[in-house]
Amino acid sequence: MLFNKATLFSLCASIASAKKIFIDNDGLTALQVLFPLAAGHEIVGISGSFGSVSLVDAVGQGYDVLENYNLSSCIPHYAGAAFPLIRTADTFYIWEQLYGELVWQGGWDPQYEDSYTWANFTYNDTTSGAVALINAVRENKDTDPVYIYAAGMMTTVAQAISIYPNLTQEAAGLYIMGGMIDFNYAQATTDKSINVDIQTDINLIQDPEAAQIVLAADWKESIVGGNVTNYVLPSQDLYDEIIERAGSYETIENTDYLSPVLSLISTGNFTENNEQETLPFWDEVVSAYMSYPEILEQSFDAACAVDTSFNSPYYGNLRLFNKKINVPKSGYKSGNCTLASVVDQEKFFDLLVDILFKDWRGYCETGAATTLVL
Ligand SMILES: *[C@@H]1O[C@H](CO)[C@@H](O)[C@H](O)[C@H]1NC(C)=O
Ligand SMILES: *[C@@H]1O[C@H](CO)[C@@H](O)[C@H](O)[C@H]1NC(C)=O
Ligand SMILES: *[C@@H]1O[C@H](CO)[C@@H](O)[C@H](O)[C@H]1NC(C)=O
Ligand SMILES: *[C@@H]1O[C@H](CO)[C@@H](O)[C@H](O)[C@H]1NC(C)=O
Ligand SMILES: *[C@@H]1O[C@H](CO)[C@@H](O)[C@H](O)[C@H]1NC(C)=O
Ligand SMILES: *[C@@H]1O[C@H](CO)[C@@H](O)[C@H](O)[C@H]1NC(C)=O
Ligand SMILES: *[C@@H]1O[C@H](CO)[C@@H](O)[C@H](O)[C@H]1NC(C)=O
Repeated sequence: MLFNKATLFSLCASIASAKKIFIDNDGLTALQVLFPLAAGHEIVGISGSFGSVSLVDAVGQGYDVLENYNLSSCIPHYAGAAFPLIRTADTFYIWEQLYGELVWQGGWDPQYEDSYTWANFTYNDTTSGAVALINAVRENKDTDPVYIYAAGMMTTVAQAISIYPNLTQEAAGLYIMGGMIDFNYAQATTDKSINVDIQTDINLIQDPEAAQIVLAADWKESIVGGNVTNYVLPSQDLYDEIIERAGSYETIENTDYLSPVLSLISTGNFTENNEQETLPFWDEVVSAYMSYPEILEQSFDAACAVDTSFNSPYYGNLRLFNKKINVPKSGYKSGNCTLASVVDQEKFFDLLVDILFKDWRGYCETGAATTLVL
């Protein structure tokens, strides 16, 4: 095992609650990495996978985060799944014709163009994301089991389960972003397509079969993000607080290190920013309560499954069962899950601002962030 100073520091700092975490995502942002590090956890690997963006863009975005914060030397980075298990772009479009168009088509949007080429960046190309995940789980299973955060589609984790079924018992648990419930009414009664998009469970819909493999598995713990993350939104107040911390908007604009902060606040004027610049903090909220469990104020237990009937308007949607009453005994497999239902937004935003205004560039060497000098 590679035992760097960062590992040693995290272990010493918080032995009782430190987690080891592997993250798979289809578009990593800085906060998803920084929340765990700030809480003293260790990120044992990251993989980028197809989903809301193409594979090359997913890995490229992950690379940019690691480069910006100088984290490449202590966080291994891999490429995960290039496409879903069964779904193809064609069956995706056919389903849309049958059951209604999705506002967001991600990497399958006919207008989609790659932003990166493989020549733009480096990553560890000797091992696939699924195998790297298995190795990370196996290496730590007896000492400090790994938590898996599937923040995009579930394909890479499903591949890993299929290669190595013991994964679900040897990992400490699973966190996912996705698994919305009761959003049909909200979709039907809005006059804005962006609200329909926000109420659509795209991470599950783009690869329903993978999502079902993952959510119906026998994890020790499985925490489903659900629609609670939809309510955690940026605002002018947040922008103002960030600008105040920086001293001025120009400081953010002119400081390379703060480029992730600039993409977060964009023009700095909430009403001028477009819909894509003012989306909810989906993946970040899950990352925050995975890192700081006290942020998750309410949750409930159920049995989780995903609709895998192609000929269904609910193909790729979460289905919940009451564990005491109506879990199917055979046939349709379900897994135990905990649904997040209330998060402490104030704590989330306080941490967010603090974490972005720390200097993480020495982390791999010292295991900690320092005060950011602007
Ligand atoms: C990738 O590299 C090309 C050629 O150097 C450059 O034009 C492009 O902007 C780069 N893309 C990204 C996202 O960095
Ligand atoms: C790439 O990953 C493999 C497997 O995890 C590891 O053995 C190898 O040392 C890594 N390569 C680099 C350059 O870090
Ligand atoms: C999987 O787990 C079972 C039960 O703990 C164990 O007997 C078996 O050896 C494990 N398989 C592998 C490949 O580690
Ligand atoms: C999920 O979101 C919908 C739409 O906003 C809402 O009506 C519903 O109550 C939410 N369900 C839970 C459990 O939060
Ligand atoms: C779910 O939990 C019950 C006990 O509450 C257990 O009997 C069952 O095996 C678990 N299901 C899975 C898929 O782990
Ligand atoms: C934001 O933009 C709107 C519309 O352009 C403008 O009316 C408002 O004054 C701006 N607010 C700030 C804080 O700059
Ligand atoms: C970046 O990380 C490397 C490897 O840990 C370290 O040697 C270097 O000092 C770091 N750079 C900065 C600016 O902290």
